[in-house]
Amino acid sequence: MTAQKTPWWKQAVIYQIYPRSFCDSNGDGIGDIPGIISKLDYLKTLGIDAIWLSPVFRSPQDDNGYDIADYRDIDPIFGTLEGMDELIREARERGIRIIMDLVLNHSSDEHRWFREAKKSRDNPYHDYYIWRDGDGVTPPNDLKAGFGGSAWEWVPELGQYYFHQFSVKQPDLNWDNPKLREELYDMINWWADRGIGGFRLDVVDHLGKDPDRGIMKCAPTLHPYVREMSQAAFRRDDLVTVGEAWSADIEQAKLYSNPDGSELSMVFQFEHMKIDQIPGKEKWDMVPIDFVELKKIFTRWQRALYGKGWNSLFWENHDLPRSVSRFADDGRYRVESAKMLAILLHGMQGTPYVYQGEELGMTNYAFRVEDCRDIEILNMVRERRAKGWSEEQILDAIYRKGRDNARTPMQWDDSQNAGFTTGEPWLLVNPNYTEINAADQVGREDSVFSCYRELIRLRKEYTVFLDGEYEPLLEDDKRIFAYRRSNGEGSLLVVANFSGETIKNPLLAEERGSRLLVGSYAATDEDPSVLRPYEAKMLLSQNR
Ligand code: GLC
Ligand code: CA
Repeated sequence: MTAQKTPWWKQAVIYQIYPRSFCDSNGDGIGDIPGIISKLDYLKTLGIDAIWLSPVFRSPQDDNGYDIADYRDIDPIFGTLEGMDELIREARERGIRIIMDLVLNHSSDEHRWFREAKKSRDNPYHDYYIWRDGDGVTPPNDLKAGFGGSAWEWVPELGQYYFHQFSVKQPDLNWDNPKLREELYDMINWWADRGIGGFRLDVVDHLGKDPDRGIMKCAPTLHPYVREMSQAAFRRDDLVTVGEAWSADIEQAKLYSNPDGSELSMVFQFEHMKIDQIPGKEKWDMVPIDFVELKKIFTRWQRALYGKGWNSLFWENHDLPRSVSRFADDGRYRVESAKMLAILLHGMQGTPYVYQGEELGMTNYAFRVEDCRDIEILNMVRERRAKGWSEEQILDAIYRKGRDNARTPMQWDDSQNAGFTTGEPWLLVNPNYTEINAADQVGREDSVFSCYRELIRLRKEYTVFLDGEYEPLLEDDKRIFAYRRSNGEGSLLVVANFSGETIKNPLLAEERGSRLLVGSYAATDEDPSVLRPYEAKMLLSQNR
């Protein structure tokens, strides 16, 4: 092997856009591609390298686009294919690549393949999906679908059930069919030809499955399929590929992100996101966060993937609640909390992701059930009501874990609807937009936005962010999260106070000759060895 140069995505920061909630250009209340184009300069100011675009393909929007009816077209609510090409071009001109969200585990039931597949058992597309014979009374087995009910749906005309791991409108594709796989690889190449910078693979761990044995993901076929896809579609044009894998443990992650490039660039795993969930139960079944355990999880991943794989670094995405509300303080210390979370994460090894609005410190919202739009929430409400949960319990679960928290429209300014739309927004705007919005933060030194911008800049300036080795500090401390990263160039110390109290921090007193790169408070001449509520500091000492 020749000496490899560092792939661009190892020093990149990726920004996730959830298109329907980002910016609406035509007043129909739904964010769209022209809206995104109008905000590219904002993203350039932030300094990000790539945009992960949640799905904009043609879709009946049963799961907000994660149900694709045509992989080669753009949904009219978002724009046109020409508009997409323009977005790719306009982004490139600003040094930003576009990462498409590929939902390959399932299609929409309105996809032409599925409409054909349903016509007869000998239709050429029938085997693109997973069917089992039956009687319409008892499904083939008791596997449950992610968004409620049985994973098997009866089609009387055929006398067969089809398999769906998510909603009934998201039939699973049959990856064991080589023709289907070829067709998907062709489609991926077609997008790469249009200038796409990479792909995020939705629920990649589910591509290999064996429903007859009750196996929904990570079947022995999984990694061979991912390797085949990588060979057929990913080894060109410097593409970045990201595998979303809720089930990935460290061993799995090493396979997905093998540095030999045989599978994907990196894994997007969620172990730290399960910290407030009862193991084996659903996300709504919560336990208080065990802070020491949270630190251990980060440490384990930082160490185990060092030189052996590549991780995504994130606190938020479109499926998760807002991080200030979940992990810190979204009230009095919201600004400091948001910066603290950013500093802590961006000092680690991996590729950081910023989810729209996270760079402003956007928060959760206390939804009423009738204001929720997410299929997962609505299904949970039905199921938990039936189980006897009180309305109070249900509202609390939505507030703490519901996906609509992350999907409220982006808060651009303090005009009506936060400047997101001139029409009626598809999901309500968080009323705190008058206080939390981009217009207020972009030019202000002490804003959450400026802190993110600075972190993004710093990651490109010092190699210690790229390859510094991770050493956890004060591992048993119940309030401080601290670590050091070191390489030949120098050492980075990150300390964060995860509490609302002021604490004396021994680490800082010792740290002579180092320079404060960024902190969650405006620097003052106060005692440097003290950490104020939710204060984080990132210090660098350089070797000569
Ligand atoms: C992924 C997506 C989520 C979607 C699901 C089914 O987890 O992030 O939004 O509902 O897959 O496609
Ligand atoms: Ca629109």
